[in-house]
Amino acid sequence: MAFDIQKIRDNFPILKRQVNGFPLVYLDNAATSQKPKAVIDCLVNYYSQYNANIHRGVHTLSQEATDAYEQARRKVQNHFSIAYPETVIFTSGTTHGINLVAHGFTTLLKKGEEVLVSAMEHHSNIVPWQMLCEKTGAKLKVIPMNEQGELRMEVYSELLSSKTRLVFVNHVSNALGTINPIETIIQKAHQVGAAVLVDGAQACAHMKPNLKLLDVDFYVTSAHKMCGPTGVGMLYGKKEWLEKLPPFQGGGEMIKEVTFEKTTYAELPHKFEAGTPNIAGGICFGAALDYLNHIGFDAITAYETELLAYATQQLQSIEGLKIFGTAPQKTSVISFNLEGIHPYDVGTILDKMGIAVRTGHHCAQPIMDFYHIPGTVRASFAFYNTKEEVDRLISAVKKAQKMLR
Ligand code: ALA
Repeated sequence: MAFDIQKIRDNFPILKRQVNGFPLVYLDNAATSQKPKAVIDCLVNYYSQYNANIHRGVHTLSQEATDAYEQARRKVQNHFSIAYPETVIFTSGTTHGINLVAHGFTTLLKKGEEVLVSAMEHHSNIVPWQMLCEKTGAKLKVIPMNEQGELRMEVYSELLSSKTRLVFVNHVSNALGTINPIETIIQKAHQVGAAVLVDGAQACAHMKPNLKLLDVDFYVTSAHKMCGPTGVGMLYGKKEWLEKLPPFQGGGEMIKEVTFEKTTYAELPHKFEAGTPNIAGGICFGAALDYLNHIGFDAITAYETELLAYATQQLQSIEGLKIFGTAPQKTSVISFNLEGIHPYDVGTILDKMGIAVRTGHHCAQPIMDFYHIPGTVRASFAFYNTKEEVDRLISAVKKAQKMLR
């Protein structure tokens, strides 16, 4: 499909909205993306045509829903180049996926062993591992970052040792947009026998990771950042790991046999999918992938790269504005502050002009501590944003600066 921005914008009903008397400029895509009509229709169609519980009923609706859900699993499998469908676990999102793996490692990690986490993680890729270390006596060590917002890879190499069991790193930083060198991180970890979990929540809207080539042990992501519904995500794990890890939650659907004496667990993926899942969410995650693949990730990346360069250049021309996260390898995320002005105040004024950005620490407080700031204003762009919207942002930031100075 040729990249026709107007046609693409027409796919998103919400982009026609007015906010505070202005046409909406939605620049909070890193928090959640907007949904194209194809995904909204998918949800309506599921609930109005074949809503039923899955893997349970012999009746037609249940079979239709089961088929659609399992077909969505195969769409996820193909999208991420995963070898086996049963290694795609549907979760409620990235946080669920990380907690599932962290819980599993309570039985595998020993006192004195080490786990490495990067300095630019979202809290959801820090806190579950701290909890794991508290339970097991393992030690959490931090891979530091530099002023540009890049990981210090030479220190990473020094931190790795035969004691390292796990490394957790995001593919893309939600607060800075940095694309981390996960290929090298994975290779180096494997050289010392450590496993790697990559948090792909911020990457998958901008690129299409090939998990087979990456040889990653675990990869987690959320559908809602990539045009899909909220409350659904994916955990990929290598088969040998998923077979080794104990279940996270007990309940229906995850068992082979239950007696009061002993319960045996179902095969993958069901062992990790207790209870009624987000059926509509899973099916429409598949619809979101179809939509994105129809546009094509080469086109998305090329367009967003241009938008990022334009927005960066325009923002940099504002006196007193500082950008945090200036790594050469970045997705379309710009975190910035205006000298002497609190980010919250800037965000509030931008909203009055119809512009949606996120302000605050972005659930990444260690990054804010590194820069000695309370937070930033974050403008995060998607393939449906335009240069005209960047211009609206620039003029609104200038107005906010005048008003607040
Ligand atoms: N993790 C999401 C963000 O960065 C919510 O905004």
